[in-house]
Amino acid sequence: MSTIAAFYGGKSILITGATGFLGKVLMEKLFRTSPDLKVIYILVRPKAGQTLQQRVFQILDSKLFEKVKEVCPNVHEKIRAIYADLNQNDFAISKEDMQELLSCTNIIFHCAATVRFDDTLRHAVQLNVTATRQLLLMASQMPKLEAFIHISTAYSNCNLKHIDEVIYPCPVEPKKIIDSLEWLDDAIIDEITPKLIRDWPNIYTYTKALGEMVVQQESRNLNIAIIRPSIVGATWQEPFPGWVDNINGPNGIIIATGKGFLRAIKATPMAVADVIPVDTVVNLMLAVGWYTAVHRPKSTLVYHITSGNMNPCNWHKMGVQVLATFEKIPFERPFRRPNANFTSNSFTSQYWNAVSHRAPAIIYDCYLRLTGRKPRMTKLMNRLLRTVSMLEYFINRSWEWSTYNTEMLMSELSPEDQRG
Ligand SMILES: NC(=O)c1ccc[n+]([C@@H]2O[C@H](COP(=O)([O-])OP(=O)(O)OC[C@H]3O[C@@H](n4cnc5c(N)ncnc54)[C@H](OP(=O)(O)O)[C@@H]3O)[C@@H](O)[C@H]2O)c1
Repeated sequence: MSTIAAFYGGKSILITGATGFLGKVLMEKLFRTSPDLKVIYILVRPKAGQTLQQRVFQILDSKLFEKVKEVCPNVHEKIRAIYADLNQNDFAISKEDMQELLSCTNIIFHCAATVRFDDTLRHAVQLNVTATRQLLLMASQMPKLEAFIHISTAYSNCNLKHIDEVIYPCPVEPKKIIDSLEWLDDAIIDEITPKLIRDWPNIYTYTKALGEMVVQQESRNLNIAIIRPSIVGATWQEPFPGWVDNINGPNGIIIATGKGFLRAIKATPMAVADVIPVDTVVNLMLAVGWYTAVHRPKSTLVYHITSGNMNPCNWHKMGVQVLATFEKIPFERPFRRPNANFTSNSFTSQYWNAVSHRAPAIIYDCYLRLTGRKPRMTKLMNRLLRTVSMLEYFINRSWEWSTYNTEMLMSELSPEDQRG
């Protein structure tokens, strides 16, 4: 058995964001490789009319968990969903649940976040900064806690070109921002947001940087590590290749390309498409949890998990691969034949948006109206183009991330764990 899998045996693990893309794959791997773990606590809120239990059943009944049910038939008993809303004081966790979490938790994986690029500063600070501070406070009251693993993003310092595995200070202290958001009204917050976020391209990356600072400032004597993945894509190998249930970022663009909605985007063809498979990220998370708990590094280590340094792929190459895949396995009833053109020229991009995206959408909506159906393509196209424009900053640049800590960790793993 692998050293890492053995380490998680008998442990009580707390995961935030377990209903999200990364959180689900993390839970799957934990149950599949360490079926003798004691319990996984997940902090969940009811959503879309579903209770906590319904949400858990939906996850466990998905294709992702098919192998888990073979190796861990009592998985339902080992998962403990705790009602929590990270937007509220003390996460609105009941006293009894809080007591259990504080006295039993051995390892924390903090994945929950708002990943919306256009979220409001108030909400993004609440979730990505204040909730992280609150969780650290809880962690400091857990006598059995061995490691706290915070998931950040490789783009938390994307205002820099070369990024080291260190926590960079933000110009304004997180505490000052949290305090001022308590009394400023929304109109003033909207006005000062561009001044606060300065050269960060959006509120998401800015608040993730603030979240890291909070981790550094509130770490007390906890054993903490920060993981910074770049763009997290579908599974590479585990539990099977190609699983993804998230249409954020490039996943959505790939689907829109396959359906023939999107045929041209403003991207620099030679810029690195730094996508990293979700199972690779999860493997690192588990290795970091083990290393942090067992080796207790003196300071908070930051780990980059990016692909550009190991196996670089640019957007042009990515486009060719995506088209080749849709050629072989096309979507049912695509809007048009898939195509992927890239341009870094704003004028050409606007021309394509008008001719290749907006005009066909308007024509299609006319056809829908004439045939007595509700028009929907213009609305969909506008949403799509808005998403693409929010990603423009990231698909027109390349970054260099140092990976000393990640390489050091690899060298500490047994040959079996190195294979994943
Ligand atoms: N995906 C990527 O490409 C990527 C890249 C780099 C870093 N990351 C980082 O990885 C982590 C996970 O990202 P992801 O892609 O898995 O995001 P995701 O799919 O959007 O999941 C976000 C998770 O946070 C939970 N959450 C949000 N608001 C909450 C609240 N008020 N109370 C309780 N839970 C709440 C969500 O719960 P609900 O299901 O109830 O909404 C969900 O489980 C984040 O920290 C993100 O910054 C992601």
